[in-house]
Amino acid sequence: MRAPRAWRWFDELTGLSRGLGPILRHPVPPAGRSAWLYVLGSATLVAFLLQVVTGTALATGYVTSSGDAYDSLRFISGTAVGRVVRGAHAYGASAMVILIGAHAIRVYLMGAYKYPRQVNWLSGAALLLLTLGMAFTGQLLRWDQTGYWTAVIAAEQAGRTPALGDWIGHFVLAGSTVGGATLSRFFATHVFFIPGLVYLAVALHLYLVLHNGISEPPVLGRPVEPATYRAWYREHLEREGRPFWPEAAWRDAVFAMLVVAVVLGVAAALGPPELGRPPDPTLIDASPRPDWYFLWYFAVLSVIPKWSEDVVIVLGPLLLVVFLVALPLVAGRGERHPLARPWAIAGVAAVVVLVWHESRVGAVAPWSPRFDARPLPADVVGATEGPIATGARVFYDRGCLYCHLVSGRGGIRGPDLSTVGDRLSREQLLTRIYSGAANMPSYVTKLRGQELESLLAFLASRQRNAP
Ligand code: HEC
Repeated sequence: MRAPRAWRWFDELTGLSRGLGPILRHPVPPAGRSAWLYVLGSATLVAFLLQVVTGTALATGYVTSSGDAYDSLRFISGTAVGRVVRGAHAYGASAMVILIGAHAIRVYLMGAYKYPRQVNWLSGAALLLLTLGMAFTGQLLRWDQTGYWTAVIAAEQAGRTPALGDWIGHFVLAGSTVGGATLSRFFATHVFFIPGLVYLAVALHLYLVLHNGISEPPVLGRPVEPATYRAWYREHLEREGRPFWPEAAWRDAVFAMLVVAVVLGVAAALGPPELGRPPDPTLIDASPRPDWYFLWYFAVLSVIPKWSEDVVIVLGPLLLVVFLVALPLVAGRGERHPLARPWAIAGVAAVVVLVWHESRVGAVAPWSPRFDARPLPADVVGATEGPIATGARVFYDRGCLYCHLVSGRGGIRGPDLSTVGDRLSREQLLTRIYSGAANMPSYVTKLRGQELESLLAFLASRQRNAP
């Protein structure tokens, strides 16, 4: 069959079939029983392209201003097409985070980051971090309570970096508080800056995949020897190689189409995730929590001891980056098979269990202030009038109850105060209320004399053997 004339004209001028043909048909090692594990990378790429398409569509209707962003998303979500597009962008983000995570784990467990594919790994690690950057900056663009809150927390965390903290926090928020400038900064980062870097890293990553060839499934007892590997690989391909298209690529195509179908299907069936309340720092009655991919991290931060927070916040992400960069440089040769690397299996299992478990903790426990706490009932307060009753109202009005439990009611961001009257003296209570703490605001200018007195009376009455 002769190709259509238009194609022949185009091909003669561009040399496309001569350039692309060999790439499509280049031999790849047979993957045997692990063949389906090799589809995760291409599926991540397709998920990314889907994000580019849906994201571009969203950007045509999104208004980057603190006054209009929320309403413009409301509007987009209300149209038949916008609903699916915003849904696909949200679920597509989840799909991409899952796929890139699974791809990284697959490559790690199979030891595919070893010689000669160390730079493949490094460019992939950059893509992983950039993807998390996309997920994070995207949250703020929703410009609802959740996104807003996440940005505030992130800036506070960045602020704990030694020496540079204030500067970084200021840089992230484009100012000292979250406002219109923050939104513009996140928008530019999410739409221009990070995607630009992603295109570059993807180009490098794909070039390297072709240049070094796809890794063959590891075989126990066949370690990677840099001196002989390339020659061995070439010979291996000559003996057993299969043309990428169609013998391996059909799986990539099928799986990628499945991913797109699931994302679009879920988006059409469920619509986009609900927008939270519009951000209003003075009237907070949502219970903001970050999107699921960061939930576990916030949960970890809420359960570790306070003194270790500064260390974990700075060191945790730093260790991740150091690990990703050092791995191929330090362990670039030797056994690839996971059974010969039990620590790799244990490490992946530990990380997966930690993320899984902490995500569940984060989903059920109000590690963030519980903004929907109700005023304490009279039987808990133990009085209906007088300073104790007034103090209980102040305790609620001033938001103490968001973070502190009293007789099983309230939030758990701070310590349980049900019996604080037994533990702390008036001076200690005053000091705490005046000066605040790492995760407690200072109330020194916010409470007037009479309010403060009744608050202290209420707290002092919180005793085990209260009347
Ligand atoms: C944003 C959350 C938050 C809010 C709001 C908050 N606190 Fe706290 N509070 C904490 C945290 C966290 C601690 C523990 C600080 C530490 O030990 O470093 C704490 C500690 C305390 C303690 C010391 C408890 C102990 O066992 O040592 C008292 C008393 C206290 N808060 C009272 C109050 C009062 C009264 C208010 C309202 C005027 C209030 N808190 C508002 C988070 C909060």
